[in-house]
Order: sequence, then C-alpha cells, then structure tokens
Amino acid sequence: MHTELEAVQQQLQTLRRQIELYNYQYYVLNDPSVPDAEFDRLFRELQRIEQRYPHLIAPESPTQRIGATPVRAFAQVTHDTPMLSLSNAFDENEVKAFDRRISEGLAENPVEIEYAVEPKFDGLAVTLRYENGILKTGATRGDGYTGEDITHNLRTIKAIPLSLPVEKTPRLLEVRGEVLMLKADFIQLNKAQLQKGEKPFANPRNAAAGSLRQLDASITATRRLMFFAYGIAPNLDVLVPRDTHSAIMSYLAGLHFPVAHECTVVQGFSGLIAYYAEIAAQREQLPYDIDGVVYKVNALAQQEKLGFVARAPRFALAHKFPAQEAMTRLLGIDVQVGRTGALTPVARLEPVFVGGATVTNATLHNADEINRKDVRIGDTVIVRRAGDVIPEIVSVVLAQRPEETQPFVMPHHCPVCGARAVRLEGETVARCTGGLFCPAQRKQALLHFAARRAMDIEGLGEKLVNQLVDNAIVRTPADLYLLGIAALANLERMAEKSAGNILSAIEKSKQTTLARFIYALGIRNVGEATAKDLARYFGNLNRLMDSGMEALLQVRDIGPVVAQSIVDFFAEQHNREVIERLRASGVSWEENTGIAFEPVDNNAISGRTFVLTGTLPNMTREEAKAEIEKLGGKVVGSVSKKTDYVIAGNDPGSKYEKAVDLGITLLDENGFKKLLQSIAQC
Ligand code: IVH
Repeated sequence: MHTELEAVQQQLQTLRRQIELYNYQYYVLNDPSVPDAEFDRLFRELQRIEQRYPHLIAPESPTQRIGATPVRAFAQVTHDTPMLSLSNAFDENEVKAFDRRISEGLAENPVEIEYAVEPKFDGLAVTLRYENGILKTGATRGDGYTGEDITHNLRTIKAIPLSLPVEKTPRLLEVRGEVLMLKADFIQLNKAQLQKGEKPFANPRNAAAGSLRQLDASITATRRLMFFAYGIAPNLDVLVPRDTHSAIMSYLAGLHFPVAHECTVVQGFSGLIAYYAEIAAQREQLPYDIDGVVYKVNALAQQEKLGFVARAPRFALAHKFPAQEAMTRLLGIDVQVGRTGALTPVARLEPVFVGGATVTNATLHNADEINRKDVRIGDTVIVRRAGDVIPEIVSVVLAQRPEETQPFVMPHHCPVCGARAVRLEGETVARCTGGLFCPAQRKQALLHFAARRAMDIEGLGEKLVNQLVDNAIVRTPADLYLLGIAALANLERMAEKSAGNILSAIEKSKQTTLARFIYALGIRNVGEATAKDLARYFGNLNRLMDSGMEALLQVRDIGPVVAQSIVDFFAEQHNREVIERLRASGVSWEENTGIAFEPVDNNAISGRTFVLTGTLPNMTREEAKAEIEKLGGKVVGSVSKKTDYVIAGNDPGSKYEKAVDLGITLLDENGFKKLLQSIAQC
C-alpha cells in the first residue's frame, strides 16, 4: 500500500514533469499548448505542496531555478574533456583545402564526405553536466581546460532542462552548446535599460555575457537567455548514439535540448558551400546572431580517425562570415543636405574592410547621436556594416582618443547654399531653409522625381544630376523634358548613345499614373502610400491642388501635419508653375472622379492597412501588394497600432513579434487568399 508520503512524491513528480514539458513547449518549441494561466496554476500548486513538505523539495524542481543566495565568487571547474576551439576558414579555398585534407586523411578520395552543418552561434560556450539525468554543474569554457562554475545562472535559463524527461538516462551526459540572447529580447532589454537611465548593451553577445557573469542569479533570471546545444563530450554509454554527430543532435533534441532548425547534413564540398550561402542569405532574419557556419565530419568513426591538431579537431571547421564590426579612424565629418533640407552628418573614415566591403563613409544620424556617442574628429571608432544596412558608427574607443580633440558642433548654416539652418522644436534634425534655391536640395529633388517608384527615369543617376545642376542646365524637373541630345552629349562621360538612352527614358516617363506623379513631386511627408491614397481619393490633380485642409483631412490616414504640408506645397506659385510646365511637355496620366465622390465600398480590405513580412510560399510581395491595393487597401512598411492585418510568410521578421505584441490579426498566405476570395464573392 502507498503511504501518504509516496502519494505526495508521486504527485510532485507528475507536476514537475508537466511544468517542465510546458516550459519546453514555450521556450524551446515556441509553441505553447496551454494558456499562461494554466501554467501559473500548476506552478502555484507545486509551490504550495513543496511548502507543506519542504524536505521533498528537489534541486531539479522547476521552483528551484533561482537559487536563494548570491555567490561571492565563481568556483573553478576542471573540464573532464577539454572544450576545444575550431579552426577558421574565411574563403572557399580554405574550405576546399579542409575538404581535401579530410578526404586524404580518411583515404577515401574521391568519395564525397558527409558533413553535419550548423550555424556558428555568436554567444558563449558552456557545458552542462547531467548525472543520472539531473543537471549538476554548468560551466563556462574558460581557457578550454578550466572554466567557471555558473550552475546557478544556467539553471535560470528555461530552455535548459533541469532533469532529462526520460526514464532511462545515461549515468553521465555532458551537453555542450552556446548561451545567447535572441535579437528580439536584446532589443527589449536595451529599451528597458534606456528607460531606467542605464547604459544599453552594445550587442546581444555582450548582453548575454553580462547576464551570465552575475553573482546573483536573480538578476540573470530577469534576462531572457537562450541555449542551443551543438554537441556532447565523448560518451560511451549505450543510451547515447555512437554512429553520427547528427544522431547525437537528434538524441539531444529528444531530451528537450534546443537544437537549431538550421542544423542539417550535406554531402561534399559543394554541399558545404551551398549551406554557407543559404545561411548567409538567412542571417538577418534568424532570431539570433551568428558569425559563420560550422562543418563537422558526420561519422564519429571518421572523426576519431582524423583526430586533433593542437587545440582544434581536424574533423571540424568554422567558416566565418566577414566581420561586421571593425576599428578605424574618423578623418572628418561632412554635413550632407537631403531633399527636404535635412542636414545629416556623415563620417569620413580611413578605408576599412568590414562586412565584406570597404567602407569609407558611415552615417552619424544627427547632432544628438553625435553628442550621445561623443564622436570627435581624430577618434578611433568602431564601424558596423550589417547586411544591406548603411554603415554606422557604434562607438568611440576612448582609450585611443588623441589629445586636443573638440566636440563636434553642427553648422548653423547650410554647407551648400549658406542659408540658415534651423531645428524646429520636436525635430531631431536641423534643416537648410534655402528650399529649391539650394543646389543640394534641388539635386535631391530631381533624383527623387526620377526614382524608380516615382517617374522611373532610368539612367538619371547622381553623377548626371550633379552635372546638370552644376552647369545650370536643369533647375526643376520640368527642365528635364526640354533636354536635347546636344546638351547631354556635351557632358562628361556621356557618349551620344547613352545620351540617346536617357532621352528616350525621359520620353517614356511622360506616360505615368497620378499616384506616381504626386509622389514624384516630393511634397514633404507625402510618401508612396499617401500619394496612392490621394490619387485614389481625388482621382484628379486639379481637385487635389485646390483642396483645403478640410477636404484633405477626409482622406484616410491623413492628419493635420501631412494635410498642412500638401496645402503649403500647392500654395507655392513656383510649384504650380513647374506642374503646369510638366503637363505642357506632355506628362500625363489617367484621371477619374475619385472615391470621394463615390459610395465607399465596404470590404474587409478597403481602407485597411496591411504589413507584409517573411516570404509567402506562392506569391511575391509585389503580387500581394497589388491585390491589396486593387481592393483599396494600403501596404505600409512597419507595424503600429493602426495596422489592421499582418500577412506573415516563412521566416517572418520582428514585425511578426510586434504584431503578436499589439494583438493585430495575423494571416498566413492561405488566410490572405481566403480574405481575397471572401471579397470576390461579395
Ligand atoms: S563545436 C571541438 N559548434 O565556437 C569543437 N562550436 O571555436 C567544439 N560555436 O567557443 C565546438 N557555434 O562555443 C561548435 N555549432 C557550433 C558552434 C560552436 C558556436 C563556438 C563554440 C566555441 C567556438 C569554437
């Protein structure tokens, strides 16, 4: 017969298993099966029973993730099996040499080698020691032989099992992997840091390191950390797979350790290179930072045969992405003038190779940013170039600041036309007040007019526009339509043929749409989406030009600021003249009566705002966008409270999380198609 105590023990065991399972579904699978309230209820139930029977509290109970007392210092841990490093490769030739060495080492030439391939996580290496299925020690890598005991901190990471969820456990299992902070959690943490008036962390890796280095685990517990397993210390237990690395990874996944979805198996050199390219393309969308990919010979027998060189295994290789951050010197700060007169400070740098390209300029955003980072000419700075993002200055290396540097002061006059620069209240940027008299603003206005999404004049790029304005050949967009072959062919680097091409592109642009034309005018605060709204609402340019605030405010999503910009623009005689001249040159579009004068249609898309994220399996974004716009909906780039629907494809970005946060309706491609069908049937 069961004693009462046995029954309680049984109940505790069931509760703990259930709670750990819910934890796993939530933190590892990202797929909770019960509402938070149900989880909380079970957790409180467990706490209640443990309080009644304190002697039954076990260290592996989910209530014991945060230890009671902070430690005074980290104890040293000697690794039974050293935590080695990886040899690096930075280009394909080095990968080819690696593959050749492997083939030769195994004397299996010309058979293709099978490799297990994984992301190279940009976090901190740790080892987790399970004795009879219970997490006993967690430690950092340290020098590879001796690390620090950070068990108390690692236990707070919910994705790390405190006990293995199986009946039969190996006597000893040492799981190795990387602790990191997901990009989304990093953004949240930095926001909170700034709100508290504390210093933000430079990157997710530093945030993870700072969180793990806490002597007080209750601080670590407030930081959302993640763990990914990438291997085990050699293990001869019969329960642990002994044939391949990929089998070990599946075994770990079965024990509820997080294993990245991107881990897979490929064949031969070509498989390695294809994997590198695939992961490089996904890099920005991955939820965590990586700094390359790792290749491992999959068969453990082959691994053993290959052995080790110095401190790295011969059977593995890290193929690194080009570094995204580098140090260089700030030679000067130029101030550029944008289309709306905004003055943007731009850093001129000693050329440096970073993120796969040589960088000589980086944005400094605005005066506040320069002050916040205290960037001074002559400083050594850290430059970051990630993907297609414009390079930026992350920070200054203060220890290398030369003597007698001066804080940077933004000019009070436009560096191009000399007009006064003013910074309006509530704005972060100062603006040149020269308007279209300022050659810089004029050039930008012309480039905007000719842009692909505006009048789409192919070939009218920066170099040509600079020459046209500097030689006073073109002052306004209307002048473009008066250009002749002679004027163009006289310009530098312009042969008769390319001049002819430009002229036909200009000619072709005459036939346009009202939305494109409105957008091309470059009215302050009128982007592509607003231009489309205006075109749809008014249907006709004269009506738009003559509308006052009241009429404009009727247009969906147009508030007083945008309405005022439109009124101001058309109040300028100069702008009306340019429009008149453009029309006289033959620029034209179809007009209609607009929806302001039609009954408003009432479908689920008309008047709604959509955001697209990720890759849709069967339609391009452009196609989805066209469908939405055809039905009177609007597609914008970022999620806000005003968004009605977010359509999420594969690998959605942070927009997806934001939509979840804000409780916005999420649709996948099927859901979107159903929505379209429901309207077609109306
Ligand atoms: S395997 C014996 N796999 O890279 C090889 N390491 O230089 C043991 N790292 O600090 C490492 N992602 O923490 C391996 N998928 C991955 C990895 C990975 C990141 C880190 C590891 C270590 C460094 C090795």
